[in-house]
Parts: sequence; structure tokens; C-alpha cells
Amino acid sequence: MKIHTLIYNIGNLYTPQGEFRRGKDMNDIFHIKNAYIVIENDRITHIGSGDYKKYVNSETNLFDAKGMIALPGFVDSHTHLVFGGSREHEFSKKIQGVPYLDILKSGGGILSTVEMTRKLSFDELYNKSIGSLYELASYGVTTLEAKSGYGLNRETEFKQLDIINKLDKETPFTIIPTYLGAHAVPKGFDKESYIESLFLDIEEVGKTKKAKFIDVFCEDSVFNVEDSKRILQKGIDNGLLVKIHADEIVSLGGAGLAVDLNAKSADHLMAISDEDIKRISKSNTVANLLPSTSFYLNKAYAPARKLIDQNAIVSLSSDFNPGSSPSENFQFMSQLGCIKLRMTPEEVLTATTINGAYNLGMQEDIGSLEVGKKADIVIMDAENLEYIYYHYGINHTKHVFKNGTQIMKDRRFN
Ligand code: NIG
Ligand code: FE
Repeated sequence: MKIHTLIYNIGNLYTPQGEFRRGKDMNDIFHIKNAYIVIENDRITHIGSGDYKKYVNSETNLFDAKGMIALPGFVDSHTHLVFGGSREHEFSKKIQGVPYLDILKSGGGILSTVEMTRKLSFDELYNKSIGSLYELASYGVTTLEAKSGYGLNRETEFKQLDIINKLDKETPFTIIPTYLGAHAVPKGFDKESYIESLFLDIEEVGKTKKAKFIDVFCEDSVFNVEDSKRILQKGIDNGLLVKIHADEIVSLGGAGLAVDLNAKSADHLMAISDEDIKRISKSNTVANLLPSTSFYLNKAYAPARKLIDQNAIVSLSSDFNPGSSPSENFQFMSQLGCIKLRMTPEEVLTATTINGAYNLGMQEDIGSLEVGKKADIVIMDAENLEYIYYHYGINHTKHVFKNGTQIMKDRRFN
């Protein structure tokens, strides 16, 4: 039997359209007032303004949006959702100004999360991740990417990927797995022998299709551009698509490598060179910017304006992880997009919906409110789009629909 749902009394509906938007077209937002959305099963069948009654029949589930705004479900295309423990024991060092890479070099940082992740059973890790997943969803995220990278051995890396795949199957959300075995060199290995072991694991990931993407932390004193190229090429040879943690802290040229390898995205880019800004802006590799990480590490923000002004495809993501961005607050991240990256509200909406969907290869199904797409919809209590970025630090989400079904209600009133 078909499930027929109609969301009516939407004060303002805002959405980008199409498959992705680059440069000045990121401002191109479709906007209608007094709107409605008709849904059959999991997909949108009509969007319009004014009288919706002709779409109502005796089976229709009617949902009154009470004049609030409707946006596409948010796409968080860079998270480290699955990890053990937390790192508040390093917080005072961080506050005193000890650099992020120095904490990692001394065996802390990512490596301390690896120890905590290895200790947890599958179920413990699964249950911990579900908590963070629903926290992200409470801000309006309906699709996300999640990386491994806290196992740094086959057993725990694959456990993380299996958890991500199980979350995708058993929760309402769409979760895309990324293999990040090259997140750091684990204790007890030299870099070269670890890379050799990664090659075998990448073959297995390709065979078992545990992941859609491969990613590398291309960074000073982690994996250099040459290491990253070898690891990612091995991924490509085994059927994986490419993402790179590029030019986060030191300007190494990871963004240029991303363009050379036709990566789906180059992520972070706080230290991208002017030359690589030019190159990525001419390419179809998405510049995936993570302003919460700049905020939390007290670092420079990525040059979003230069990228957009030179015609890049820009997306924004949370980078949710226990070290450099321990917050699921996707809306604060988006607000930083306006306040710190100097993006317009329209550009931020595009960057957190359709451009995130494109960078995950999901643009045909999600990322905009259009007929034929999945009914992933966020209802927010605001009179206009600007308001949700202007009134910062809080959660404006009231209701979240995923595949046509309401999955979250405002917790404050439950
Ligand atoms: O994207 N930079 C590498 N990976 C994460 C941080 C991981 C961690 O500190 O645990 C990032 O910032
Ligand atoms: Fe990251």
C-alpha cells in the first residue's frame, strides 16, 4: 500500500536545485511562500504553493508545518562518527597551546583514540555511535559520511566499517562508509611497513565492498603527498572513490593531488595554496570545508570566498571527531560558514545540501527538495533563511523527515 503524506502550511520553502552548484550559482536558491510538499512512500511527487486540497484523499497523512520553513535534509559529508572514548584528558594541553600535531607525535591525539577504540566490542562501539548519530540528526542531518581510521589494524578498521554499514541498514539514516586506514601510523610500525599492510587491507575492502571511499590524512609528519598518492591509487585500483584530508595544518599540496586523482572531494583546505585554489576551482573535485575544526583548533579558516569567487564547488561538513571537532552541532558549523567563512546564507544552504550530496555521489536521490527525490526534509522554526544563521549557537530544527517519515521531533517539547 502506498503511504501518502502531505506537509502543508510551510511559511517558506528554500532549496537549491539540480545536481550541484558552483561559484556564484551557489546563491541560486528556489524559494516559495505558503508551500506544500506531497510525498508518496519515500519520494516527493509535488511541490507547490497555495491550495493543496486537490492532493488530499482519505488516506493522506496531513502534517501542519505551522508556518515554519522547510529545507532539504542536511548532508554531512565528512564525519568520524565511530570511535571509542573521548579526549578531555588532552584538553588542558590544547588550551595551553600545545599544537595538535605535537600531541599526535607524542603518542596522543588520534593514537589515544585508537587505543580506546580497539578496547570496545562491536556492540559497545555500535551503541556509542548511535548516540552521536541521533545527536547529529537532531540538527537536521539526514545523510552522512562516516570514516574508519581509529583501528589502524585490519580487525578494528573493519569493525568500524561493519558498524557504519549496520547503522546504515538499521537506522533511518543514510550513512556512507569511507576507509581511512591511513589516518596515522600506529605504534609499533614504521611508515613503510604500515603502508605495505594497508595495501592488503585495501584489496580486501575493495573485494568485500565495505567502503565506497578511501581517504588519507595527507599531512606533515603523517602521510606525505607521495605516500598519499600510492595509497589512494591502490584504492582506485580496487574500485574505491577518493577523498583526502588535504592542507589542514601545513600546505603540502594535498588539494592538488586530489585534483590529479579526480577525487570526489578535498577536505579541510585551511592551508591550501593559491595555485591549488585555482586548480580545484576549475575541477569537479568538491572543496569540502570544515569550519568547526578551525574554530576548535584555533586555526585560520579555509579561504571559502576565494574558492567560490574562482568558481569552485564548495560543501561544508562537521568533521565530527573526538580530537579536532568534538561536536555534532551541525547548525553551529553552518553558522560559522556565514560568520567566519563569509559565505551567504544561500551559499551555506547549497554547501550543506546539494553540494554535500554531490560529493558523496548521491545527488540524484537527495540534497534538494525536488519532484522525484527522496523526501528528506527539515522543518525549522524561523521566518526566513537568514534567521537560522543569524541566531547562532542554537538548534532551530523542529521536525525531521527521512524518506518521507517523520523521525525526529523537537526534544525540548517532548
Ligand atoms: O579531520 N585530521 C585528521 N583527522 C581528524 C581528526 C582526528 C582526531 O583528532 O581524532 C580531522 O581533523
Ligand atoms: Fe576529518
